[in-house]
Amino acid sequence: MQMKRAVYPGSFDPVTKGHLDIIERAAAIVDELIVGVLNNNEKTPLFSVEERVNMLIDVTRHIPNVRIEAFSGLSVEFVRKCEASFIVRGLRAVTDFEYELQMAQTNRSIDRGVDTLFLATELNYAYISSTIAKEVAFYGGDVSGFVPEAVAGRLHRRIAQVRGEKGN
Ligand code: PNS
Repeated sequence: MQMKRAVYPGSFDPVTKGHLDIIERAAAIVDELIVGVLNNNEKTPLFSVEERVNMLIDVTRHIPNVRIEAFSGLSVEFVRKCEASFIVRGLRAVTDFEYELQMAQTNRSIDRGVDTLFLATELNYAYISSTIAKEVAFYGGDVSGFVPEAVAGRLHRRIAQVRGEKGN
């Protein structure tokens, strides 16, 4: 039987507890899960692609069938390069739906061999996003509920560095 391989693409700037929950659950469904970290993001990321990849490697060590890779360009091209047939995305709320549906339909129109699997985010992580975690960290709040422990320290240090550079 053919191996079921999926790609979970995203910015992961940084990886949150919500992302990790999706990774764990998707890895339990497919044979191999490749987490694709987008390199050419239009938004200026807080962490470099290498840092984002390394944080993901750190927090997914306990999942044997997960691999982390950086990619540039279209997600669907990366999926093809990985010889995967599925894209995994998490849905937190209806507000995610319109954009996610548009992406899934665009991706499928580019490559009919690729289907998107949506996993509903765990209720207690539904309000979490990388943006929210960065905002809370910026104002000195506790991010331990939002990002894995290994990420929290790095997030606080990076924010302190950025604030130092800006002089605020
Ligand atoms: O974590 P994010 O920022 O919600 O992830 C968005 C991502 C990386 C999945 C999306 O922006 C993406 O796939 N970018 C690569 C370019 C592409 O393939 N765009 C989709 C065509 S609509």
